[in-house]
Amino acid sequence: MMGPAQRHLRRPCTMTSEPLLCLLYCTLTAGAVKVVVNTPSIQVTRGRSVLLPCSFRTTAALNRLNIIWTVSPLLQPQQPLQVISYEQGQIVESLSDYLGRVTFASQPTQDASIVLNYSRVSDTGTYQCTVINPPDGATPNIGLVGLTVLVPPSVPNCSSDVHGHEGGSVQLRCSVKEGVPTPRITWEKIPPGPHQLISTQEDYGGSTTLTNLTAETSGLYRCTVTNQLGSQSCTVEFHIRIDGWGAMGIITAITITLTMGLVLLALFILGLCLHQQGRGKWMEDVYR
Ligand SMILES: *[C@@H]1O[C@H](CO)[C@@H](O)[C@H](O)[C@H]1NC(C)=O
Ligand SMILES: *[C@@H]1O[C@H](CO)[C@@H](O)[C@H](O)[C@H]1NC(C)=O
Repeated sequence: MMGPAQRHLRRPCTMTSEPLLCLLYCTLTAGAVKVVVNTPSIQVTRGRSVLLPCSFRTTAALNRLNIIWTVSPLLQPQQPLQVISYEQGQIVESLSDYLGRVTFASQPTQDASIVLNYSRVSDTGTYQCTVINPPDGATPNIGLVGLTVLVPPSVPNCSSDVHGHEGGSVQLRCSVKEGVPTPRITWEKIPPGPHQLISTQEDYGGSTTLTNLTAETSGLYRCTVTNQLGSQSCTVEFHIRIDGWGAMGIITAITITLTMGLVLLALFILGLCLHQQGRGKWMEDVYR
């Protein structure tokens, strides 16, 4: 619980109503630690080192300087972690994911910026640098830096039904495991045959459905996943099965051919017989 005097202090005051309290308040504010973060939002490629800036100004001596870096990870914002600190002249590494990967960029007494090495996706989050330097400032002074760890897209995985029927439809599927920011998935039909852009969307898994299949729909399709760090692709091939010309179609064709052959053969034999008969008749006429 706050006492009445403290409550007074925190209330905005005016020179006319409480000149003494106001003077005290103004003195405290003027002597406060001032934290400056000149780049509030930073991006780094996974694995690279990154500088998290935080500079401060103070008028008091530095023998009681305290700097505390904490992070609210994007994946677990409810569980802030301590990253590193400077307490009573000592750098204290925290027993966390950050152990051995983080250092102060320079003497903490001059600048509170830190360097984070071997950045990981889980490092993405809001970093808070708190500078306390008694007797300067009644409240700790805070700077915030947002860090995003970027990841190039991984090689996607393409799949589809191998065959489709004429007039039917087929689904082409593409999935990508990694990529920050979210990759853009593009499906296109590639030569041989006319090049054609099919669909595009931003996601980790994208499927597109080809409808109204014709013979021209058969061929090679490519899925490309892209973000600002690069792109990867995979291809899938599918063929249309013309209705009536499957295994049954071939049997039917052979049957028709055989039947027609037999009919022709029968006609030929019949013609031959008739011819022989006719000739016999003619010979009979000659010798008569
Ligand atoms: C981070 O990397 C830099 C440059 O490679 C190196 O000088 C520094 O010691 C590394 N920091 C830690 C904590 O490993
Ligand atoms: C399917 O293709 C036929 C012939 O090309 C066309 O007339 C018809 O509109 C197409 N239907 C759809 C749904 O695209």
